[in-house]
Amino acid sequence: MTSRLLHCHGAVQIALILFVLQASYVSSVRARAISGGGCIASEREALISFRECFVDSAGRFSSWRGQDCCSWKGVRCSDRTGHVVKLDLGSQDYSDAILLRHQLSSSIAGLRHLRYLDLSFNYFNFTRIPLFLGTLSNLRYLNLSQTDFLGIVPTQLGNLSRLQYLDLSIYCSNCLEVSDLSWLPRLSLLKSIELSGINFGSISDWVHKVNVLPNLEILSLSNCGLNSTISTLSHSNLTNLEMLDLSYNHGLTGELPVWIGNLTNLSYLDLSYNMLVGSIPSGIEKMTIGNMTSLIYLDLSQNNLVGSVPVEVGNMRSLDILDLSQNMLVGDVPDGIGTLSNLTYLSLGLNNFSGVLSKEHFVNLVKLEYLDLSQNSLKIYFDEHWVPPFRLTGVYLRSCDMGPQFPSWLRWQTGTFTLDISNTSIYDVLPHWFWVAFSNTYILDLSINQLSGALPEKLELPFIEVMDLSRNYLSGQLPANLTAPNLGNLLLHNNRFTGTIPGYVCDGFGEINLSNNQLTGDFSECSATGRPLIMVDLKNNNFSGEFPRFLQNATELSFLDLSHNKFSGSVPTWVAEKMPRLEVLILRSNMFHGHLPKLLTGLVGLHYLDVAHNNLSGSVPSSLARLRAMRFSKGGDAHNYSSDSISTFVKDRELNYTHELTKKIVLIDLSSNVFTGYIPTELCFLKGLRSLNLSKNQLSGPIPGNIGALRGLESLDLSYNYFNGEIPSSVSDLNFLSCLNLSYNDLSGRIPSGQQLQTINGRYMYIGNSRLCGPPLLDNCTTNYTDQNFNQEHESEMHAISSCYPSLCTGFILGLWAVFCTMLFKKTWRTAYFRIVDVFYDKVYAQVAISKVVFMKKFLR
Ligand SMILES: *[C@@H]1O[C@H](CO)[C@@H](O)[C@H](O)[C@H]1NC(C)=O
Ligand SMILES: *[C@@H]1O[C@H](CO)[C@@H](O)[C@H](O)[C@H]1NC(C)=O
Ligand SMILES: *[C@@H]1O[C@H](CO)[C@@H](O)[C@H](O)[C@H]1NC(C)=O
Ligand SMILES: *[C@@H]1O[C@H](CO)[C@@H](O)[C@H](O)[C@H]1NC(C)=O
Ligand SMILES: *[C@@H]1O[C@H](CO)[C@@H](O)[C@H](O)[C@H]1NC(C)=O
Ligand SMILES: *[C@@H]1O[C@H](CO)[C@@H](O)[C@H](O)[C@H]1NC(C)=O
Ligand SMILES: *[C@@H]1O[C@H](CO)[C@@H](O)[C@H](O)[C@H]1NC(C)=O
Ligand SMILES: *[C@@H]1O[C@H](CO)[C@@H](O)[C@H](O)[C@H]1NC(C)=O
Ligand SMILES: *[C@@H]1O[C@H](CO)[C@@H](O)[C@H](O)[C@H]1NC(C)=O
Ligand SMILES: *[C@@H]1O[C@H](CO)[C@@H](O)[C@H](O)[C@H]1NC(C)=O
Ligand SMILES: *[C@@H]1O[C@H](CO)[C@@H](O)[C@H](O)[C@H]1NC(C)=O
Repeated sequence: MTSRLLHCHGAVQIALILFVLQASYVSSVRARAISGGGCIASEREALISFRECFVDSAGRFSSWRGQDCCSWKGVRCSDRTGHVVKLDLGSQDYSDAILLRHQLSSSIAGLRHLRYLDLSFNYFNFTRIPLFLGTLSNLRYLNLSQTDFLGIVPTQLGNLSRLQYLDLSIYCSNCLEVSDLSWLPRLSLLKSIELSGINFGSISDWVHKVNVLPNLEILSLSNCGLNSTISTLSHSNLTNLEMLDLSYNHGLTGELPVWIGNLTNLSYLDLSYNMLVGSIPSGIEKMTIGNMTSLIYLDLSQNNLVGSVPVEVGNMRSLDILDLSQNMLVGDVPDGIGTLSNLTYLSLGLNNFSGVLSKEHFVNLVKLEYLDLSQNSLKIYFDEHWVPPFRLTGVYLRSCDMGPQFPSWLRWQTGTFTLDISNTSIYDVLPHWFWVAFSNTYILDLSINQLSGALPEKLELPFIEVMDLSRNYLSGQLPANLTAPNLGNLLLHNNRFTGTIPGYVCDGFGEINLSNNQLTGDFSECSATGRPLIMVDLKNNNFSGEFPRFLQNATELSFLDLSHNKFSGSVPTWVAEKMPRLEVLILRSNMFHGHLPKLLTGLVGLHYLDVAHNNLSGSVPSSLARLRAMRFSKGGDAHNYSSDSISTFVKDRELNYTHELTKKIVLIDLSSNVFTGYIPTELCFLKGLRSLNLSKNQLSGPIPGNIGALRGLESLDLSYNYFNGEIPSSVSDLNFLSCLNLSYNDLSGRIPSGQQLQTINGRYMYIGNSRLCGPPLLDNCTTNYTDQNFNQEHESEMHAISSCYPSLCTGFILGLWAVFCTMLFKKTWRTAYFRIVDVFYDKVYAQVAISKVVFMKKFLR
């Protein structure tokens, strides 16, 4: 029993074991009580004064009454000597924590015979670990894990020369610190040491301190900030290791030592989230990973491992959890995986594995619950009638090749929480059984396939939080009746849905994206009850009617795109009042008319305003200058990645910009309306502006002389208006300008020169202004140039240049894709995925964490 205790980690196990212990000790206490036994008075006093230090709202000390302290809950005395040998006030969570009220009394230092002290999961009011613990020289077991002690771990712990079990691990990184480890080798009997979460700061010789502990079975130094090389860890004294956890140090380097295969007692190996290099020890070496036949838990994810997975992996028959994700592993997935009949968790995602996975790889995996093969170059092929032996809760197969038929084996996966088969080359009808099999799912991602067919008229998905069917060929009407009370993100964009909008759509929360379909009708019947809708994208459908009124209840909305529809009427004055958090407003290509509401300027976060291609009239409100978010550059990286991307952005904006990019860009586009009057000079206060497009209106008067104050401007389009006068010389101050179009106005005089202008200058930018002169025009201002022929000659060529279109800025386009793509793909798929599911991050994470807990249970059994 004692030796088992030394291995005790899982809170559940602690509880179980304690329960057993308690049951047995209660009976022994009873026996002593009958024989007149009691506790030693001085020890009782020590316990009482210890108790007095705490607030105990959960009644942990409620049994601490009467003389016989040996019968108090959590206290145990030696049957032989009567001394208190065990004090167990540990817990499994914080729900019944005791809370330190004053300075911790050194009274328990009086419990000289104490062998076992557990104070885990309690609150010590951010005090330091008391030095007097170092005087409890009989301690075998010390557990202060998940407490809130702060500061330096005292070196006095080195006096506990009999200690076999030491657990100081904490969730809070950087709360505890070790500044000196010279005490560690003095604890030569240590079997288990867990210091996870403690900052090791500048200690680089931890390896040597650990190497000399000859009895070590458990070593857990996760999230300690270790950045040395693992290769110096020595096998000679660590032959008994059962558990090695060096995960989340982020800086641990070096190759996996070859001797790792010699650790034949090892059950648990977690080196994830480090910078390990090299390959996984395999056949060439005498002892390979395949000799670690007692390994239950193997996690090498998030490192820089290369090479292939050794075929010997098939020998590790005890494996329960295998996570090799996020490395640079290549080659086939060994068939041997299929023999690991105890495997519940298999994650190979985000590597460069290739080849075909067939049922042979899975035929014995009867316990498999979590499967992640995403983002490799794998093809998964099972024959049509194969019934898998497993039922998965998490299925992540993004970017595997599973098509062209819809994978029929999924039919049997009826207990799935998350299904991600995005971009899996499926070219088929979405079968009706799918909605039955996955009716209890939380997250469904079928995006980027070629799925066709219609959705059922009635759908009940009681748990669904994210439904992503985007970028497919789905058609027909949206389900008339969708029961999905938890639905956050409804992503149906880029399909071929037709028909009108069912009422539930408007009452969503999170993100609603119906863009690029053929939906019709208006939103007059649609109402929202005020759930926190963040993003609504209805772009490029055939919606009609007035500006949707249900948005009056969308008080949290930050993104709204109604572009490329047939909405009409005026832009309501309530926009700012009812959607005060709006940052991006896109009404482009509709039939809105009337004035732009002045109140728009109440939107303190609005940095992206695109109302182009409507029939809006009146003057450009000078109050736009009050849009606070446009007065400063967005983000620190404003011009780092952007100069190029804005060009793409302007180009792609029409239909397929990314929502991400709109977040970064400060833009006003009022083009192709019937605005009249002058450009308000106040507009030049919007110093964050990066793109200003006023083209194709009926604006007149001069270009404001202070336009050069818009220092961040990258794109300026004033073409097709009636602007007159000279081009202000301050235009040459626009150092980031990559697109300029002043064509078809009534400008005159000499074109200003300047470095950036020189770079981008082309005659097209000025065409249609008969009285302009100077480079790049042929006229050098020495003659009065009145030749209208110039325009006519070039009219056809120039007509294509209707607005500031980046084909005019070709120089930038090549570069920009590189930047743009890096930006998109630099993030890992996990982060990317989490970004999509955003608010549900915790749930997904918890799922992984739970798998680990489940494992711990087994491991510690
Ligand atoms: C925690 O310690 C602070 C002093 O550091 C003290 O003011 C406070 O009362 C303590 N809280 C409790 C609950 O004892
Ligand atoms: C490890 O971290 C310490 C403290 O941050 C630093 O002094 C040392 O140079 C780092 N070593 C390596 C190999 O990065
Ligand atoms: C193994 O432990 C012994 C005794 O603690 C020590 O002398 C020896 O140096 C250790 N071996 C290594 C490789 O550190
Ligand atoms: C590993 O085990 C093999 C075979 O038992 C032995 O030959 C080898 O010396 C061991 N390696 C180390 C580093 O102990
Ligand atoms: C290691 O595994 C290989 C087979 O993979 C086996 O031949 C060899 O005997 C094993 N060595 C030990 C020491 O178990
Ligand atoms: C598989 O797990 C079961 C139960 O957890 C255990 O009894 C059995 O020994 C394991 N099999 C192997 C090969 O480790
Ligand atoms: C949708 O289905 C639910 C459950 O079957 C039913 O209670 C509800 O009346 C239906 N709603 C509509 C609009 O048909
Ligand atoms: C706004 O929500 C309330 C109830 O929360 C509802 O009565 C009202 O009709 C909603 N208004 C719109 C325009 O959807
Ligand atoms: C935009 O659409 C075009 C064609 O429709 C496509 O080739 C391009 O990759 C898309 N761009 C983005 C950023 O999705
Ligand atoms: C200006 O252009 C005219 C005709 O194109 C030319 O004769 C004259 O030399 C030029 N003047 C200068 C200063 O380049
Ligand atoms: C251009 O014409 C104006 C009158 O139209 C005249 O005043 C000016 O001197 C002329 N400039 C040149 C350079 O011929």
